[in-house]
Amino acid sequence: MARPERPGAGRPAAPAGAATAQIQTTQQVFTDTEGLLASLAGRAARGEGGRLETIYKVSSAIGAIADHDQLLDRILEIVLDQLPAERGFILVDEKGDGGFRVEAARDRRTGKLEVPPQVSMTIIQEVARRREAVLCMDATQDARFSHGLSVARLSLRSVMAVPLLERGRVAGVIELDSSQASKAFSRDDLEMLNGIALQASIALERFRLQGDLVREQRLSTIGAMASTIIHDLRNPMTAIKGFAYLLGKRNPENHECVGVIVAEVERINGMLQEILEFSRGGTSLQVADADVGVLMDDFFRTLERDLAESPELVLERRVDYRGALPMDRERMRRVLFNLVHNARDAMEGRGRLLVGVARDGDDVVFRVEDTGKGMDEETQARLFEPFFTRGKKGGFGLGMAIVQNVVQGHGGRVEVASAPGKGTTIRVRLPAGP
Ligand SMILES: Nc1ncnc2c1ncn2[C@@H]1O[C@H](COP(=O)(O)OP(=O)(O)OP(=O)(O)O)[C@@H](O)[C@H]1O
Ligand SMILES: [Mg+2]
Repeated sequence: MARPERPGAGRPAAPAGAATAQIQTTQQVFTDTEGLLASLAGRAARGEGGRLETIYKVSSAIGAIADHDQLLDRILEIVLDQLPAERGFILVDEKGDGGFRVEAARDRRTGKLEVPPQVSMTIIQEVARRREAVLCMDATQDARFSHGLSVARLSLRSVMAVPLLERGRVAGVIELDSSQASKAFSRDDLEMLNGIALQASIALERFRLQGDLVREQRLSTIGAMASTIIHDLRNPMTAIKGFAYLLGKRNPENHECVGVIVAEVERINGMLQEILEFSRGGTSLQVADADVGVLMDDFFRTLERDLAESPELVLERRVDYRGALPMDRERMRRVLFNLVHNARDAMEGRGRLLVGVARDGDDVVFRVEDTGKGMDEETQARLFEPFFTRGKKGGFGLGMAIVQNVVQGHGGRVEVASAPGKGTTIRVRLPAGP
């Protein structure tokens, strides 16, 4: 589609001393449709109807597209069609911790960018901090942005970025940039982008709410399934445990095997119970002072049995702390198993698996480190999302969601360090208590 003749030919000229960067921010971030329409009506009256048309295009695209990524890409396509930018990006801060990630990227000449190039995070952070749009005429000359790596590398000159607000929070940013010298963008362009951002914000919120609803429905279905399964399994499990115990009594030489049968039955019960509790909206913890040494010995005993099937996998134990820790021991055992299972899957049967625990100031830190395939950025960002599973057959996508739930229930946190092809280290940090 040909880009219409740009209105705004009579832009304000750059003031004297163009070497000084021109940054403008606008307070005019429309947070309601009425404000936006009023502004657009004014523009239409001034013969700037092309802009109104663009907003209509965005709004109908939003209504028609059901796929999140496709929607973001379409918005960028329309934006680049209307505004004189070379590249456009939509970044989203999914977790609300300021970690903006590029979710859509487009280049005017080459179209959709599958592997998003570098974006100037300095400018994005500025938009997030101020919660308002930024128009920068010459980023390379601006003291606030020029130190940014990508600003220098890409010799970005004109940048325009607007926030995507979701209930007052900056949930994302639309950024347009150009390596052209100053005056690539006008304040009119910025206002237009603000209008589009409002539409995009509404669409993103709609997707998020739909996602929450689907997750809730899936969880409640799984909860119903788990409770039926647990109910049906309870009798046979009790029978297996009871008869194993009897066998052990009659033949003391079977004592060890019986111990394994009983422990494994309990493990199955524990797993089912864990899924059931999680799907019912939370894990009820029974926290008591327990011995980390006992937990680890018990854990390694079962793990060694599991690892007997993988002779090329080397287990390294590093237990540097064996003291007391307020915890739900059974739940923490399950946390370690979930982490180790993921590590094993990632290593595909070979490599080095380190499982350790150490004291670190006021915390006790458990560590599971593998030499497996590692995780890309997107996987890391979505790791704790219920039902997020990637690259596995039969993964439920609940392991890490449960881990985080249990760890947060202890007042602790999970730290992830991973890179594709370089392995993964997960640390679980729990407060050691008074
Ligand atoms: N140590 C790891 N190395 C590489 N990828 C990992 C690692 N741990 C988790 N992942 C990735 O994160 C995804 C989510 O993990 P999670 O444990 O929540 O679910 P799952 O293992 O797929 O299924 P479930 O644990 O419910 O059987 C995994 O599918 C995998 O792609
Ligand atoms: Mg898992």
